[in-house]
Amino acid sequence: MTQDLQQFHAALAAPDDQSINPSGNPGLDQLVDQGRRTLLKGGLGLAALSLFGGVLGSRELFAAPPQLLGFTGVPVQTAADFDRVLVQPGYTARPFFSWGDAVLADAPAWNPDASDDWQAQLRQAGDNHDGMHFFPFAEAPDSHGLLVINHEYVNPTLHPGGMTFVDGRRPLAEVKKEQAAHGVSVIEVRKDAAGHWQRVLPSRWNRRISAQTPMAIGGPLAGHALMKTASDPAGREVLGTLNNCSMGVTPWGTYLACEENWPHYFVNRDAQDWEARVAHKRYGVGNGERSKYYAWETADPRFDATPDAGQPHGGQVNEPNRFGWVVEIDPFDPDSQPVKRTAFGRFSRECAVLSLGADGRMAFYSGDDAKGEYVYKLVPAGRFDAANPGASRDLLDEGTLYVARFDADGSGRWLALVHGQNGLTAENGFASQAEVLVNARAAADRVGATPMDRPEWVAVHPVSREVYVTLTNNDGRGEQQPLDSANPRRENLHGQILRWNEKDGDPAASEFRWELFLLAGEQPGAKDPQGQAVPAHLTGTINGDIFSSPDGLAFDGAGRLWIQTDYADDEPAMQAMGCNQLLCADPLSREVRRFLVGPRGCEITGITWSPDYRAMWINVQHPALSYPASDGQTRARSTTVLVTRDDGGVIGA
Ligand code: FEO
Ligand code: CA
Ligand code: CA
Repeated sequence: MTQDLQQFHAALAAPDDQSINPSGNPGLDQLVDQGRRTLLKGGLGLAALSLFGGVLGSRELFAAPPQLLGFTGVPVQTAADFDRVLVQPGYTARPFFSWGDAVLADAPAWNPDASDDWQAQLRQAGDNHDGMHFFPFAEAPDSHGLLVINHEYVNPTLHPGGMTFVDGRRPLAEVKKEQAAHGVSVIEVRKDAAGHWQRVLPSRWNRRISAQTPMAIGGPLAGHALMKTASDPAGREVLGTLNNCSMGVTPWGTYLACEENWPHYFVNRDAQDWEARVAHKRYGVGNGERSKYYAWETADPRFDATPDAGQPHGGQVNEPNRFGWVVEIDPFDPDSQPVKRTAFGRFSRECAVLSLGADGRMAFYSGDDAKGEYVYKLVPAGRFDAANPGASRDLLDEGTLYVARFDADGSGRWLALVHGQNGLTAENGFASQAEVLVNARAAADRVGATPMDRPEWVAVHPVSREVYVTLTNNDGRGEQQPLDSANPRRENLHGQILRWNEKDGDPAASEFRWELFLLAGEQPGAKDPQGQAVPAHLTGTINGDIFSSPDGLAFDGAGRLWIQTDYADDEPAMQAMGCNQLLCADPLSREVRRFLVGPRGCEITGITWSPDYRAMWINVQHPALSYPASDGQTRARSTTVLVTRDDGGVIGA
């Protein structure tokens, strides 16, 4: 049992930590022009600014105050026992919604010893709070809304004695509780008479979506043979969503939960079949004795994707095809069925972030967070019509999926993943558009996309529509993937942020101009505690407060770029960074200031605001220590934290 638990912890500690991209798509190393290299080495200073000056050259463009960052910042926290949220002076950070808190009115009170059963968990907040969004009510947008929150995965602390095996199998009751703790929470929130934000209970809108909630399949894969299983022979309804990391929001007011590390919930024990099945192997579906995460298949056969010729549709061999999509949820209709939108393509999707053009054309940007994977965008075929938002209901079922190629001269191309184009033909293994979408990674390999350093969140500037992506880190860069100008560091432990402008500011454009916004890491010339120079690959180009491994990323309405970090704070290379943090950057000056630091062992992730930007919610995911949660109970719990300014002002201004 001990070894099983160790495997769980190892898998959970490094959920994205693998490279399975065999494409050998060009490193652009040999193409990198000397001028750009010099630019990177010399820090991203005036030359880089002028490179993008055409779009970001004027402060007026943002309608922002002259001092975008209106706060002083907080220092790194390196103490091994740091167990609280430190926020900029003049602000208050209050635990707001923790794992186990009641979502439905009939939820039992949470037991601090984790003895609640799966039925209780289905009514309580899930674990590992991640991407989220505040949806305002029209009649009181700044004081009343729905907070929609992803629950990415589960920790062994979900159970009194951790995750266990009995006779080589997971107890079904534990597995059901773990499935119930996945998914999404919808909670009503409003300001009370004293002006303090509170959770509302009971609420007609509150809802828990889990790994067991029935959801429809929409788009090109609905009813397709690749989606049929013994338990769903029609291929039209999936039970649940898995590993919802970041998210997106549509202009018509729905939430897009994205499915990230779903391959690790499945196993295909037939080595020969696994080797030949691109839809499993290219995604890292397990092929050992057990799935990589929780061994659910030992209790719930739906997660055993080993082909079974004796069952219709090969048993559950297609079940992994039903994950890796975008799940559209209407938070204002608690009875609506979530829909998996398959036009988006299938990969380890971090996010689906909107850029809306003046003419109603849209792009939704997504990172595929694994080493050497790609950046994608879906351009829906239809346009958003603000005068008729109801007509948008199924806009996400038809569109063109693209993948990005970043060229060394700062230009970029969106390569269409369309059957019959760019070599995506039957002779090359893509018999239809459905196969292109299910095997989006292989299609992207084929068209020559640029393998990136683990693309995580995307953020789109509210005025200029400039697009930013976090490339969190990639310790395999230089070995598993060659260096290139967008991913220029060998053994890249600290990551970078890259930005681009679509041609003519058009979300649907097929060309763009890009540059590195910053390389994360220590300051050049930094010394370690022993007085030794920090190696060059661990120093970056940050103008201001240092950080590693950017992950969460979002703009507020004034154009402040908020950056959240996710690194193992006990790793030797992270000692100067301290605990994970929330920072804020000025896109024009590139200055970065640290706004908040979380407790030891946590990731800071998920960010949203009330429309007046006077309330900000962020998530403290999987703190290691007894961080005090919403009810003061001290079991280490993932928690949504509310940040407000003591004078009631706009956050960060
Ligand atoms: Fe769940 Fe890539 O972060
Ligand atoms: Ca993330
Ligand atoms: Ca991450």
